[in-house]
Amino acid sequence: MGIIGNDDDKDTNSFIIGKLVESEELLNLDISFPHVILISGKRGTGKSYSLGVIAEGLLETSQLVLLTDTMNIYWTMFKKNTQNESKNLPNYELISEGLPINLITIKSNDDFYETVQTETNLVRITKLILLPSELSPSEWCDMFDLSINSPMGMALFDAVSIVSEKSSFSISDIVAKLNETEIAIGTLKALERRLKSVEQWGLFGEKGVKLNELMDNRHINILDLGIIPRGFGGGMRNVLLTILIRKIMNNRVRIRKYEELAEISDNAYLYKSKIRKGLLPLWLLIDEAHQFVPRKGTTVSKPALITWAKEGRQPGLGLVMATQRPGALDSEILSQCDIIISHRITLNQDLKALNDLSQNYMTQELRYAIGEIKGRGKAIIMDDITEKLIKAEIRPRKTWHGGGERKIKKY
Ligand SMILES: Nc1ncnc2c1ncn2[C@@H]1O[C@H](COP(=O)(O)OP(=O)(O)OP(=O)(O)O)[C@@H](O)[C@H]1O
Ligand SMILES: [Mg+2]
Repeated sequence: MGIIGNDDDKDTNSFIIGKLVESEELLNLDISFPHVILISGKRGTGKSYSLGVIAEGLLETSQLVLLTDTMNIYWTMFKKNTQNESKNLPNYELISEGLPINLITIKSNDDFYETVQTETNLVRITKLILLPSELSPSEWCDMFDLSINSPMGMALFDAVSIVSEKSSFSISDIVAKLNETEIAIGTLKALERRLKSVEQWGLFGEKGVKLNELMDNRHINILDLGIIPRGFGGGMRNVLLTILIRKIMNNRVRIRKYEELAEISDNAYLYKSKIRKGLLPLWLLIDEAHQFVPRKGTTVSKPALITWAKEGRQPGLGLVMATQRPGALDSEILSQCDIIISHRITLNQDLKALNDLSQNYMTQELRYAIGEIKGRGKAIIMDDITEKLIKAEIRPRKTWHGGGERKIKKY
């Protein structure tokens, strides 16, 4: 068996992600400590599919996983894979099966997921509720893609800053404050409209959801960012993810201290209940990651994700990012990746971004290795820990891979 991410065969916790192309040996991915993993490849080469393989493996090994779904393609994981490639699952000592999923959504989502629930008992639905005070004034502006230098942005920033002086506030408080302020009527009405629609979604409430009520390690937790109604820009998705990231990091940093105390203390039992109330170490999986950590420009989620990648090891926070365009991903986060799984790539700029990451121990230029791979699911894996460059084939999914193209068909 081959392993990526750990050079100590004995002390490892891992799951099968595929096989080595040359020897046909099974290939495992180490999860004994958090990694920062990049999955790249051009369109249709298997990035989202591979991300799903990793999510399945993480559930199999009882890891806590949060899969960020921008494209609405992972809710089908409750269904077993019956596609052609699933016939090869026994080669990996696996069977095709639907897995328990937890769909994190917002209140006003239509009843689609409830409909899905009538198909199966493998689906849990959890509504995400945030407190308005969990967003800073500038994040309120980011949510609506408003620059804080624009009239609307300035008015919203000021109103939220004032209502934030109270320990808790509601959207109606923001609207009331705006009405007390001297701003152009057009600006006021436009802001009111936006705030009212957010209020209707039920994303904000008086009582937020606790993180350990929101997700657990018995399900693949899927944060459905596709729930944000079209017409709202990427800002809303970014803010949502950022708030969650911040909450998770704070929780894990705090719990990690108790875990350490339990490790060194003679009275470990005293801390067990505190630890149990907190979150387990968590793996964050992000598809279309360039939307959240772009190379050019800033987004609210960018600094949060860079911090996650840089500081996540200690509190136990892993990160797996998939992107078609590694060249469009922030270079600081790229440099944090210790494992790179690259499906076929042809764009020069993206090959260059990956090549820049290849280390001295690699005699072969990555670009030639990547040029050689052909076929869906095939990948070159660059492992900074074992200092290896390997050719691999990612295993078939146990679950149904969503996002297939719409064939013309009558229902
Ligand atoms: N490991 C694999 N084994 C078998 N088939 C695969 C594998 N990986 C991908 N495929 C096939 O390739 C198709 C496209 O994969 P996927 O949706 O992951 O592409 P992608 O790289 O995410 O594309 P996009 O850039 O458009 O998001 C899948 O629907 C599946 O049929
Ligand atoms: Mg994809």
